[in-house]
Amino acid sequence: MVQLAYIVVAFRLTHGALMNMDGFKRIVRALLCAAALTSCGTAQVLRGQSKNHPLPRIVQKDGRYALFVDGEPYLILGAQANNSSAWPAMLPKVWPAAEYLQANTLELPVYWEQFEPEQGHFDYTVVDTLLAQAREHRVHLVLLWFGTWKNGSSHYIPLWMKRAPQKYPRMIGAKGLPVDSPSPFATATLQADIRAFSALMRHLKTADEQRTVIMMQVENEPGTWGSVRDYSPAAQEVFEAAVPTELLTGLHKQVDAGNPNWQQAFGEDAEEYFHAWSVARYIEQIAAAGKAIYALPMYVNAALRDPFHSSHPPRYETGGATDNVIPIWKVTAPSIDLLAPDIYMEGSAEYLKILDLYHRPDNALFVPETGSDSKYSRYFFAALGNQAIGFSPFGMDYTKYANEPIGTSQITEKSLELFALNYKLIGPMQREIARLNFEGKLRAVVEEKGKPTGSLQFGKWNVTVSYGLGQFGRENPPGNAEPTGRVFVAQLGDNEFLVGGYFCRVDFHLSDGASGKQREYLRVEEGAYKNGNFRAGRIWNGDQTDWGLNFASVPQVLRVSLGTY
Ligand code: DGJ
Repeated sequence: MVQLAYIVVAFRLTHGALMNMDGFKRIVRALLCAAALTSCGTAQVLRGQSKNHPLPRIVQKDGRYALFVDGEPYLILGAQANNSSAWPAMLPKVWPAAEYLQANTLELPVYWEQFEPEQGHFDYTVVDTLLAQAREHRVHLVLLWFGTWKNGSSHYIPLWMKRAPQKYPRMIGAKGLPVDSPSPFATATLQADIRAFSALMRHLKTADEQRTVIMMQVENEPGTWGSVRDYSPAAQEVFEAAVPTELLTGLHKQVDAGNPNWQQAFGEDAEEYFHAWSVARYIEQIAAAGKAIYALPMYVNAALRDPFHSSHPPRYETGGATDNVIPIWKVTAPSIDLLAPDIYMEGSAEYLKILDLYHRPDNALFVPETGSDSKYSRYFFAALGNQAIGFSPFGMDYTKYANEPIGTSQITEKSLELFALNYKLIGPMQREIARLNFEGKLRAVVEEKGKPTGSLQFGKWNVTVSYGLGQFGRENPPGNAEPTGRVFVAQLGDNEFLVGGYFCRVDFHLSDGASGKQREYLRVEEGAYKNGNFRAGRIWNGDQTDWGLNFASVPQVLRVSLGTY
């Protein structure tokens, strides 16, 4: 403003004689405007600085979790691109899918082979492109470090490492042959990974004061297919030695006497537990080094085993955070904030069980990958109902790669439609939904094949959810032709609820039917959240409430006030 006053005075002195009052006022207005814009610009620059963007972090309160971004609970409405899509040349095929989905967060890999093409020389150009384009598209990023492990192998290590297999060895299987999986006892590989991941975190710390990147995935589905553990001499020596006391203590494991080795301590689970510990210990060192530089939340994703435990290794990937070894990972890798299931099991019994297994008092639930077939789309609500901090279908881009049969055969707007509906509904109120979940006020239910109804309980109110009904009249629900129904209900007050969903009918009843009282819809408002406040656009009544609250394929959010008579 002082500068502005000088300019005005100077202008008057030099041009005063020639200018009428109107002209003078016009110039003053223009200068004031420019000053306002400059201060606006300054505000924007300031907003881009880290002091206005506290570090994203996982917060726990009363056994519930939230991912805080910019200081408030944030819900990841995610999309993960295909494995080879995070190259600048492919990004034009990625953004349109993310936009169509209305994702607020994109999960993209950082490839070690690209990031460190020569030992000790780091190439930040691709990461910088991801940051710049994410900002242009106003989405956050979760970066996936494809380092030592990618799906149990190490196919993303740089060429200079692949050319030195003696130095960066694979595991040895029970029969003495190499297995296509990196040895968690390979110290040179570990040191190289620590250096590379640290370089990445150091770069993000300075290049991303805006906190475009909100979380890091350390490795990808680490562990091993085809061998329960490493049988190399280095691994064997540790397997035969005493189990570390910290692990036994952390697991609250009572041992009879002395220092048991793995076999003595864990019997038939010994080899599997040993491998989980070996991999977790390796990854802990990478995550700890990265966090010491830049403490973003970090997670490890897991390839799963049958949640009803009907299979045994090596039929699933061992070493990773399968449900049976979560406690080992928790004790061994404290720098990892959460263990996250990649869910490609379409059946609702399995899917819901997995959500339950990873939603634990010591683990925030996050679904970083799930199938791209639209059948999986409803599980976004199931994840919400388990207080998930985020959800992300896999392979969400138009590069023409599709991972059928675990995903859909083609990614098109049509195939993405039911996923897009989720984010269309929740996107405008993701902060409110994340907060309600953090406060333990939200529940959700999804349709299961062969089960035409579901229910949710909120104290004296029972919510019934029916599938496959028309919107008028009362009859027995047949279920939808495909199980697409989904709904969330959040309690705002004793008798006040927020409800949103698709392909179902929702009705409220008094749980205590014996009281002789009936439920009355006092007021049902359809609206949306703006700046944290619910604004009603219309009131539902008549056909829209007489038979219950019907949700079709339109994104609709209701605030429901209940009474009794
Ligand atoms: C799980 C992995 O984490 C992904 O990177 C990808 O390989 C899918 N499986 C299969 O498309």
